[in-house]
Amino acid sequence: MSITVEPISDAIGARITGIDLREEMDDAAFQTVHQAWMDYQVLVFPGQELGEGDQVRFTSRFGELGGRNRKVPTAEGKSVSHPGTMLISNIRKDGKPIGSLPDGEMMYHSDGAYAKRPFRYTLLFAIEIPSVGGNTKFANMYSAYETLPAALRKKLHGCHAEHQYYAGSVDKDKPTLSLTGQRQHPVFIEHEESGRTALYASRLLTTKIVELPQDESDAVLAELFDHSEKPEFVYEHVWTPGDFVMWDNRCVNHARTDFSEGERRLLRRTTVFGVDPKAATAQAA
Ligand code: SIN
Repeated sequence: MSITVEPISDAIGARITGIDLREEMDDAAFQTVHQAWMDYQVLVFPGQELGEGDQVRFTSRFGELGGRNRKVPTAEGKSVSHPGTMLISNIRKDGKPIGSLPDGEMMYHSDGAYAKRPFRYTLLFAIEIPSVGGNTKFANMYSAYETLPAALRKKLHGCHAEHQYYAGSVDKDKPTLSLTGQRQHPVFIEHEESGRTALYASRLLTTKIVELPQDESDAVLAELFDHSEKPEFVYEHVWTPGDFVMWDNRCVNHARTDFSEGERRLLRRTTVFGVDPKAATAQAA
């Protein structure tokens, strides 16, 4: 088995070929994949054939599988066997979605930022994909931090942001009734493995810079969101069934483009728990 790692865009991400993820990775393969993840933050493995058990086993190599906090009832419980597995799908049975986050465009976010231990990694396997749209966009939050205007970096150094999530929401302005979680974390976090600093704020989840008055906080957050979503920091993945994509939520935000209600979309998600994010100590020049 000879693993090939190729950059997929100028912004972020690599394509990995020469590996069948159904097979147990030896230590050398694990090191290659982990190093590629550190270097590129988003990894795309095309042409995989993964059952749920394969995905759970592969995910477990990278840490403790993330749990689910199912507050919104779906038919999903009958379709997956592992409690940490989540289907993302607009397919409906008896009028009820078989998975979570069924429809439409979704704002940028970092999975679990509203929790004490946000998800370190998210892994998605594409099973059914619409002919147009439903693409997933990945934003490089290291680059977003490194290119922030120096005055803004200085102002926000040592500040905290509040994040909250209402289960199933894809748009902050249209929350559901069920609050999943709410938590404050540093605005600039230090990635505990790479030591690099990332901007940790997102349009869907971040509601306030704690140390600033609300008006100023709103203006600063708007600037941070617009900056981090600039095309030069983003790779947009157009899915093909059999794609397996994994990303690092400590330094990547993701979003989804709109797609037709009339076409089926089905992906299987697993996650890995992370740690309570720590504030970055060093300031970029
Ligand atoms: C997610 O944010 O977990 C869903 C991404 C997608 O549906 O592409």
